[in-house]
Amino acid sequence: MSDPLRLGIAGLGTVGIGVVKIIRQKAALLSARTGREIVISAVSARSKDKDRGVSLSGYAWEDDPVALAQRDDVDIFVELMGGDEGPAKDATEAAINAGKDVVTANKAMLAHHGQALAEQAEAAGVVLRFEAAIAGGIPVVKALTEGLAGNEMTRVMGVMNGSCNYILTRMESAGLTYAEVFAEADGLGYLEADPQLDVGGIDAAHKLALLSSIAFGTQVAFGAVELEGIERVTIEDIRQAADMGFRIKLLGVTQLTARGLEQRMSPCLVPASSPLGQLEGGTNMVVLEGDAVGQVVLRGPGAGEGPTASAVLSDIADIARGTRLSTFGQPASTLTKPTPAQSAIPAPYYLRLTLQDKPGALAKVATALGDAGVSIDRMRQYDHDEPMAPVLIVTHTTTRDALDAALAKLPDTGVVSGSPVALRIEAL
Ligand code: NAP
Ligand code: HSE
Repeated sequence: MSDPLRLGIAGLGTVGIGVVKIIRQKAALLSARTGREIVISAVSARSKDKDRGVSLSGYAWEDDPVALAQRDDVDIFVELMGGDEGPAKDATEAAINAGKDVVTANKAMLAHHGQALAEQAEAAGVVLRFEAAIAGGIPVVKALTEGLAGNEMTRVMGVMNGSCNYILTRMESAGLTYAEVFAEADGLGYLEADPQLDVGGIDAAHKLALLSSIAFGTQVAFGAVELEGIERVTIEDIRQAADMGFRIKLLGVTQLTARGLEQRMSPCLVPASSPLGQLEGGTNMVVLEGDAVGQVVLRGPGAGEGPTASAVLSDIADIARGTRLSTFGQPASTLTKPTPAQSAIPAPYYLRLTLQDKPGALAKVATALGDAGVSIDRMRQYDHDEPMAPVLIVTHTTTRDALDAALAKLPDTGVVSGSPVALRIEAL
């Protein structure tokens, strides 16, 4: 058997402790599968004295993750601290410069610096892997880079933020408002330290940008993701969607067309009977479409100690076996710079507007939509006591450009209050 593979783990929170537990509990299984013993040399976190539920006395301690990354007795630097800048990036760069392989779960760092870090890793002859960064325990990076290597990918889409899916499904099942479920999720520790990363769709957009790169051979373009969070989704939207046979999901879609790379992450209506529509709680789902394979659907836990650590171990096991894949499935120097394009594929849209309840108000809205070429399929006005009336409209299939033109005209009608909510209806 080869020499032991020695890890330095920076970050001993949910994921880091999950990795420590698997390595301790499954030592024989891992060495049987990889042909090498996998051991932990040293660890790092902010607080040395914190009780983490497992003994760390057998491992050297480093206060500074950069020092950990540079230790002679570390072969793989395992970055599980998080954050797009600061210690995570500094230590990752230090590890690469010291000739160490790197495994990380840090989608924020890779969404912002993935191209540069992948280039640095390749120049240094080390690997940088991130299975755990996308959709938790679902082995989607492996599926794309290895299992589907013979395909030209045509589209990748999915629900990739468990917290948002929990909030949306819980609002529907318990009949609670967004604010009520947000507070509940926060209390249960489901949300990131900065909850805006979750509910603003940013965390899911980080993951989508990484998937685009692997699927289409393009440089990571997080800034080009059309992004909208779930904060404006109301219980009325969810009920109305349900009445029409749909459920609302924070859906990411990426595809490379002749016009460029389309990447969008936004709340959408999807058929309630579809696999995505049936997704409950914190579960994630990624749908991969390739020219040879057709459609592959992966479903599983998107977060949490065990699932995320499971994905980290997948990368560590690969390195132990001698499998040395490029970060994004092909050399970083061959990734092309994408041209961002707004999604042009027409779809029906769901609109929620607040209108003054007075004669002719609806007619003015219908005219504004009609002038932009947007045709109304159905419309409903909720019971209300105030002078303002909530009105829900479903359009016929239209382009986003036409819809945006119509929405831009609505303030001129003088009867619409606030900015309308517009959600795409995905047929899937
Ligand atoms: P976490 O529970 O907040 O743990 C973060 C760890 O990093 C803590 O042990 C913390 O130390 C340590 N740390 C933070 N700043 C540090 C610094 N300056 N120096 C040394 N250590 C530092 O985070 P997590 O949930 O495990 O997430 C870790 C990474 O995995 C993140 O990139 C996250 O996005 C990613 N991820 C998480 C999940 C999930 O389900 N949690 C899923 C997929 C990906 P202390 O404990 O001493 O404070
Ligand atoms: N906040 C993320 C989620 C954690 O809810 O999916 C896993 O990436």
